Amino acid sequence: MSHQAATSEPIHNNADQTFTKEHSSRYENPSLRLMLKANCNAILSYASPNQPPETIGALVGDYTKPEFGLTEENFLLKPNDPEVSPIFKSKKPIKMLDFACGTGLLDYYLASYLPENSEIVGVDISKNQLDIFEKRLDKIQNKNPTLKIKLAEFDILNEEFNKKKSLSSPKDLQENTFDLIICSISFL
Ligand SMILES: C[S@@+](CC[C@H](N)C(=O)[O-])C[C@H]1O[C@@H](n2cnc3c(N)ncnc32)[C@H](O)[C@@H]1O
Repeated sequence: MSHQAATSEPIHNNADQTFTKEHSSRYENPSLRLMLKANCNAILSYASPNQPPETIGALVGDYTKPEFGLTEENFLLKPNDPEVSPIFKSKKPIKMLDFACGTGLLDYYLASYLPENSEIVGVDISKNQLDIFEKRLDKIQNKNPTLKIKLAEFDILNEEFNKKKSLSSPKDLQENTFDLIICSISFL
């Protein structure tokens, strides 16, 4: 009987091929927006003593309406709600890493909760996803004019991929000093 030896090959990641221009342009649909609003609430209430028991479970809107009629105004937590974590209520700027940031829709939802002069570093393997994020920068900045945003194309798992595409590790990742690291619906 022969046994195949286990290998330690890096996990093959083809997200750069999955997110074609076409796929990226269709990425944001009503269910995704709903899911990201729920994720936004989950992040805002992270480490808060008043964390709501469930976030996704709050989907009790009107099923006949897109996104169940749950809008930013009636669904997202308000900045001073007791469930919002103290990190978002302090005046201290936050440096936040968004691993596999995609099109930046979650960062758009989160922007107005980040203290003045905060910083977002968005890293993603897919140029097409990042292109959509780039186009959204003005809208994000409108919500929080002092927010700094840096985007980088980079594979956070597979060094070979980076070498092949000559992608160098963003300086912020090397410094590794973040107050908050988020990663949403990324099957890495
Ligand atoms: C389902 S999308 C989620 C995007 C965003 N976080 C959101 O919540 O909308 C998954 C993202 O992960 C990115 N991704 C997958 N593997 C990655 C890796 N190894 N390094 C960086 N980004 C990766 C993809 O390019 C894609 O933009």
